[in-house]
Amino acid sequence: MKDPITFYPGGDTGSEIATESTMLTSKASRRAFIKGVIASGAVAGSASFLFGGLGGCTPDRPAAGAVERLISLNINGKVRRVDVLPNETLAMTLRYKLGLTGTKLGCDRGECGACTVVIDGVASYSCSTLTHMVGNRNVRTIEGLEGPNGDLHPIQQAFIDELGPQCGFCTPAQIMSTVALLEANPNPTRDEARHALSGNLCRCGAYDHYLNSVMRAAGSV
Ligand code: FES
Ligand code: FES
Repeated sequence: MKDPITFYPGGDTGSEIATESTMLTSKASRRAFIKGVIASGAVAGSASFLFGGLGGCTPDRPAAGAVERLISLNINGKVRRVDVLPNETLAMTLRYKLGLTGTKLGCDRGECGACTVVIDGVASYSCSTLTHMVGNRNVRTIEGLEGPNGDLHPIQQAFIDELGPQCGFCTPAQIMSTVALLEANPNPTRDEARHALSGNLCRCGAYDHYLNSVMRAAGSV
């Protein structure tokens, strides 16, 4: 009997004549095989993400010879002293050294924008910024928007009013991109807002809600 994985009824099989039952068996086996490949790929991908994919700050497996160095960072208007590895990204420092978990990590390679913070007024991917390169620049995260009494920033309120967040994972980054936009351009057109948020992906597809939020915020800040 032919190997069900490599036997393609109707394909380049020479003098083989496939019966209806062998075709069905073969198709089912191929389907199972493909499912298995996809599943094993997903498992391998998850394992690499969990056990080594997040480079730049793996405390139990630092790069050979890597030594942390104590530096000062200006985060949300406060000086924070923190030990940082040479290859550590700002996203890792913020989340896992300073506890500022409002900054999310999605792709960890400059594609999704979930890690956006504002550095000296510019929306920046913190997963693609080495902490040692930040120096004394002013870093702002979503936590820095909190008012003195714990109240929401007007931009955050505008996002809520327009039902911007769906699952909410991308929301802090969308808001930080909006902060950078409105500080540079308080009255953007909708196209300018779309352009400013173009580096922030939303897997929930809430783009129109986010644009409405930005336009509402533009009228309130
Ligand atoms: S996590 Fe930084 S761009 Fe995706
Ligand atoms: S609201 Fe879910 S990813 Fe944007």
